[in-house]
Amino acid sequence: MSNKFLIKSAVIPVAGIGTRFLPITRSVPKVLLPLINRPIIEYAVREIVSCGISDIIFVMGRNMNIVKEYFDEKSDLLKYLKDSNNFEKIKEQEEISKLANIDVVYQDKALGLGHAILQSKSKIKSEYFLVVLPDDLIFNDINAVKQILEVHNKLGGTCVGLKEVQEEEISNKGIVEGKLIKKNIYSLSNMVEKPEIVNAPSNLSIIGRYILNKKIFELLEKQSPSALGEIQITDSIKNSMKFENVYGKLIEGEHFDVGNPKGMLEASIYLTNQNK
Ligand code: G1P
Repeated sequence: MSNKFLIKSAVIPVAGIGTRFLPITRSVPKVLLPLINRPIIEYAVREIVSCGISDIIFVMGRNMNIVKEYFDEKSDLLKYLKDSNNFEKIKEQEEISKLANIDVVYQDKALGLGHAILQSKSKIKSEYFLVVLPDDLIFNDINAVKQILEVHNKLGGTCVGLKEVQEEEISNKGIVEGKLIKKNIYSLSNMVEKPEIVNAPSNLSIIGRYILNKKIFELLEKQSPSALGEIQITDSIKNSMKFENVYGKLIEGEHFDVGNPKGMLEASIYLTNQNK
């Protein structure tokens, strides 16, 4: 079973303004932008529920209820499809509204990823929980959440997804330092958010998959802002290393940053070729 430690909840931060997608994000939240015909948020939700975790918390802005509504039951649509005997479409539409138990918390100020995750504190019931950043879309037979869950199930502790990145990407990412302990698994001793290249401890970047200990909330509550003047989850995970083993798993698969138009286009082409 992939979820031995009974991680019950997953958090998806969706409050991002989507600056790189302006002007469409003036009206449409970034996570509803489609990869072909499906919004990127649905990929994140499906990845999570395929691992047996069905309680999902969206951290979002007050004007983003449309994101949650995407997963609601659409009775008028179902009636229309039933009346026109479109049974194949009915099945899929019903499935989307039954995928997960979706709950919502609001982030009223854009104070960073750490601050976004902190808003979900009251909703987390299990000792460990999952965080998925929908901008990091990864295609692989064993999906990225399953890959970090497997590490957590074997070793316990906190686990983040990792990717080797080019030099020019280093100053936009969380970069880690650690020791390879098994194939593709690192025991981490340091991490820095958006370092200058000269200060970067490696070329291993965090990608948006995290298994975190609930104790991270106590650290986030005290966390001072750092990179970009924001409260960074990277800083709190680093501080948790005093009491917590932190592992990194090099994620296998095709990774796309769908938080920018080029990545979205590349992911769409990849998916189209896969479905040929
Ligand atoms: C966030 C994290 C960063 C991580 C990245 C992965 O950065 O803060 O550590 O490497 O996601 O996508 P953001 O993309 O929000 O600037």
